[in-house]
Amino acid sequence: MEIKFYKHEPIPMELHKVKIVQQLNLLPGNQRLQKLYDSAFNTFQLHNIDIFMDMLTDSGVNAMSDNMQAAMLRADDAYAGSETFYRMARKLSDIFGINYFLPAHQGRACENILATHFVKPGKVVIMNYHFTTAKAHITRLGGRVEELVKDEGLIPRSNLPFKGDIDLEKLEACIQKETVENVAFLRLESGTNLIGGQPMSYQNMKDAVAIANKYGIPTVLDASLLQDNIYFIKTREDGMKQRSPAEILRMIADLFDIVYFSGRKFGFARGGGILVRDEKMFHAMEDYVTMFEGFLTYGGMSVKEMEALTVGFEESLNMDVISQGPQFIEYAVKQLDDYGVPVITPGGGLGAHLDAMQICSHVPQEEYPAGALTCALYLCGGIRGMERGTLSEERNADGSERFASMELVRLAFPRRVFTLSQTEYVIDRVKWVYDHRELIGGLRFTHEPKTLRFFTGRLEPTSDWPHKLLAAYQAEFGRDQ
Ligand SMILES: Cc1ncc(COP(=O)(O)O)c(C=O)c1O
Repeated sequence: MEIKFYKHEPIPMELHKVKIVQQLNLLPGNQRLQKLYDSAFNTFQLHNIDIFMDMLTDSGVNAMSDNMQAAMLRADDAYAGSETFYRMARKLSDIFGINYFLPAHQGRACENILATHFVKPGKVVIMNYHFTTAKAHITRLGGRVEELVKDEGLIPRSNLPFKGDIDLEKLEACIQKETVENVAFLRLESGTNLIGGQPMSYQNMKDAVAIANKYGIPTVLDASLLQDNIYFIKTREDGMKQRSPAEILRMIADLFDIVYFSGRKFGFARGGGILVRDEKMFHAMEDYVTMFEGFLTYGGMSVKEMEALTVGFEESLNMDVISQGPQFIEYAVKQLDDYGVPVITPGGGLGAHLDAMQICSHVPQEEYPAGALTCALYLCGGIRGMERGTLSEERNADGSERFASMELVRLAFPRRVFTLSQTEYVIDRVKWVYDHRELIGGLRFTHEPKTLRFFTGRLEPTSDWPHKLLAAYQAEFGRDQ
């Protein structure tokens, strides 16, 4: 629903009211500078208490509804056979129309199970685009990924409605080149995370799955960001406006052999799981749940979270709920774009994405421009975003850098968390940083882990640029901001 205004253009409106709050803390700039050094210029290492606007992720930090919280009270706490689990499994099979469900504690645990089942050394997993943890599990087992997102998907500024679409010609050619026996599975990621939360169209999913089916290749949907993708299919794809989110979800699910999700995103609580159509395949993967996750009726999830998820899945089918994120993001993207700040357009789900390749074009890619911009935003406003660029890649086998095709700073909009005035604050500070971008310098590693280095890597600035940037910020806003 869009609320109409008497005296001005519509603005995104919160279609919920705040019932529980968490106090925010805006440290003075000098202390933020110290915290940056303490956290080795890696925003994953900051403490939440030192952050004003936490836009690192939408994962496990979405606001729960009163109904989700109420459901947590009826959790049936049993190691085996918990009624809470059966309620969750029934809800999932009602929504997705897939009967077999394997619980797991979060999205990457599902990726571990799927990779362990399907990937052998030398095998390839074809996808529209990789996600960090999905790729790490595949390569850990000696597999490779082939990313076949359409070329236009990687052009930062565009008005293409479905930038997550896979290139169908490349898909067919890739299967033939790799040979069918060598392809472990086709993985399509809805709401494609690393290219700016960009959706896939239903038609593209259908066409890609038809190609895989022709060759007998298993098809897997990563549904972690499905609720955003459903919103975009309903609002952007021809012939979909009249369909309900539940219908669209079912049409998508009907295409795939396997659907997995992170409940930290899809369902607004914490957990995950894999829906499997084929009984034999389901039994073949069961052992991995008991080995890696927990017994088959909780899979590493708390029963309270499972109850919350069961309600959260239902809320993910409510257009008033799933439109909130994309509408706030679209608003932020438009304000920034109008000001001239390079951002990924059109706005996607998940967050607003700044194009650090452009904003920090003076910082060489080997000095991690997106990582540097992420630090600058914490310094200049207490905003924590996430680097999604070269830092988030892993090095090539010969030790050379694998340069990311996009250098992005993601400012995530956890669902139902931030208000419009907080969004305005973020837009304002991004504009200021953009206008002072020449003061931003590079970063280099002081400790570089081999796997998923962005989580725990330690870095330092290549010069005293953070001091100069802070001095300019304090001249503008004072020492207490
Ligand atoms: C598309 C996608 N797949 C998988 C994952 C992994 O999920 P989790 O963080 O719950 O392990 C994420 C997390 O951000 C994601 O965005």
